[in-house]
Amino acid sequence: MCGIFAYLNYNVGRERRYVLEVLLNGLRRLEYRGYDSAGIAIDSDLTLEAQNENGKCKPYHSSSPLVFRQEGKIESLVTSVYSEVDKLDLDLEKLFLVHAGIAHTRWATHGVPAPKNSHPQSSGEFDEFLVVHNGIITNYEVLKQTLVRQGFKFESDTDTEVIPKLAKFVFDQARDGEGGVTFSQVVMEVMRQLEGAYALIFKSPHYPNELIACKRGSTLILGVNELGGETSRHLFHDVKALTANEKPKELFFSSDLCAIVEHTKNYAAIEDNEIVHIKDGSVSILRFDNEKEMPASVQRALSVLEMEVEQIKKGDFDHFMKKEIHEQPGSLTTSMRGRLKNGIVGLGGLKDHMRTIRRSRRIIFIGCGTSYHAALAARPIMEELTDVPVTMEIASDMLDRKALIFKEDTAVFVSQSGETADTLHALEYALENGALCLGVTNTVGSTLARKTHCGVHINAGCEIGVASTKAYTCQIVVMVMIALAIGSDKLSTLAKREAIIAGLTKLPEQVRDVLKLDGEMKVLAQSLIDEQSLLMFGRGNNYATALEGALKVKEVALMHSEGMLAGEMKHGPLALVDEHLPIIVIATQDDSFSKQQSVIQQLHARKGRLIVMCSKGDASLVCPDGRSRVIEVPQVADCLQPIINIIPLQLLAYHLTVLRGYDVDQPRNLAKSVTTQ
Ligand code: AGP
Repeated sequence: MCGIFAYLNYNVGRERRYVLEVLLNGLRRLEYRGYDSAGIAIDSDLTLEAQNENGKCKPYHSSSPLVFRQEGKIESLVTSVYSEVDKLDLDLEKLFLVHAGIAHTRWATHGVPAPKNSHPQSSGEFDEFLVVHNGIITNYEVLKQTLVRQGFKFESDTDTEVIPKLAKFVFDQARDGEGGVTFSQVVMEVMRQLEGAYALIFKSPHYPNELIACKRGSTLILGVNELGGETSRHLFHDVKALTANEKPKELFFSSDLCAIVEHTKNYAAIEDNEIVHIKDGSVSILRFDNEKEMPASVQRALSVLEMEVEQIKKGDFDHFMKKEIHEQPGSLTTSMRGRLKNGIVGLGGLKDHMRTIRRSRRIIFIGCGTSYHAALAARPIMEELTDVPVTMEIASDMLDRKALIFKEDTAVFVSQSGETADTLHALEYALENGALCLGVTNTVGSTLARKTHCGVHINAGCEIGVASTKAYTCQIVVMVMIALAIGSDKLSTLAKREAIIAGLTKLPEQVRDVLKLDGEMKVLAQSLIDEQSLLMFGRGNNYATALEGALKVKEVALMHSEGMLAGEMKHGPLALVDEHLPIIVIATQDDSFSKQQSVIQQLHARKGRLIVMCSKGDASLVCPDGRSRVIEVPQVADCLQPIINIIPLQLLAYHLTVLRGYDVDQPRNLAKSVTTQ
């Protein structure tokens, strides 16, 4: 995925330096969404380029936009912007009463990371239309061929470049015809031609001091900061109604809330097929309908953002991943807040559907990566408490197989971001097949949250490190609570449910306890930094822990690591075992403990180099000869043990990464969530 951002100040003087910093800072906040290249477009006061080298005049009266694009992370863009500013002798103190700037950070999908493939993408000479884009245009090849036939020259390998060129084509056609065309009419016509998923922001010198954003699929937020008084919670009606509002203000577009929280708490989540037009300090939202010539104007009240600036800052930590690992006692508490009362689990988002869920023929957990692992960790308790068969689906595989799904099924979609393309496509598929769709997500207003029939937010707080940590443990807690709620009508499991609820209330304290292993995990990481590979064996409740621990190691420490089902060890992986290959065996107390003891014995018999995770006080049981390294963790209810057990592995992955000298928060080739299939 990519990050898009825009800033427009109206009736309030802002120096160019300020505008640049707001845009670049917006990108810093969105950088976790993609960090292959970045770019911005701002207004100039230069008239130098009124003609090109062939003597062609620029086709508009306003000044030309300035576009900066750079390969690499945001800080490379920052350096190149300021060096260009010097070269152009741009006045950073120049005051703008209105200024419209756009910005982009890219996760490369079409074309390698390079300035030419960075956004803003342009309509061509004189930058008549500039666009930043998050998403994928699926019919760009057809559009490109048509535009090439019309004489357009393409410079990038991106799918996005067709958009500004299409805008120019539409604009030129309209201008050559009967006359005026508004910015929103141009964008509406462009939308009519585009297929795929996108959030777009347009800037054009034909429409100075205006910005347009639109979306279909990808998330888009509008932030509003009215200066000099309370922001009115009025509804946005249409351009006319708001043109009357001359109040000084700052307006923002962003791919997510993280980039606006330091400016304002007033925001609106833009819906699919909506076009937001900012002009003369007013905001109008129009609803695009392919069938209709004229768009309907939409009323939308502003929401208040419940997020604090601290959430998006590292504070005293060196990295977001470390901060987020250490935040887990707090995030778990927030996840449970208001949901456990007098031994009863109350999940408001599910109550109207509980009867249907209980009567389901099957519960299907669907997700990708860490979210899939969280569901896998919750599966045993879901089966035990509900008596409903639970199956697992990796979203992409479910779609590849066109797996059978029925209207009697409850499909549980798990996604931290609520934006993952594979998961969202699987959701569409499940909806088409009539299943009841339940969402478990961290992102309020995300597509997953909006398109599922019902759901539960995990409330883990903003997770910025690409490696998911606190969202994982909160997802498990939420799914355990869902299992408790579904199974709450069964007398036979009452004692078990009471024990779990008691366990949940103590959990944050025990997580705090296990976080004290930080130093020990650093020492362990030190002993592993030069290894090529690291295996992890788990089973039952902790099969997911092995998979998730290994995913953390490979994604951030860039070391090969595999999580394996311990029961499968003797069916193949045992051949890998020797005195060199490090193997972590998860053997905390639960029904599988004795089986894990026997696995440990078999590994010892092959001279395996073991690191055993066990419950406090069990070291002598898992390692009678004292030859293996042992990680002791607090023992909790079996279904909550994966939450405790993953924490030392998160810390291990973190320290391995730092010691190996890799980027913890922005691992190579990855982005926070993957909005392409
Ligand atoms: C987690 O560390 C990974 N970055 C990745 O596996 C992630 O969990 C996956 O892409 C799914 O993302 P989602 O939870 O936002 O859907």
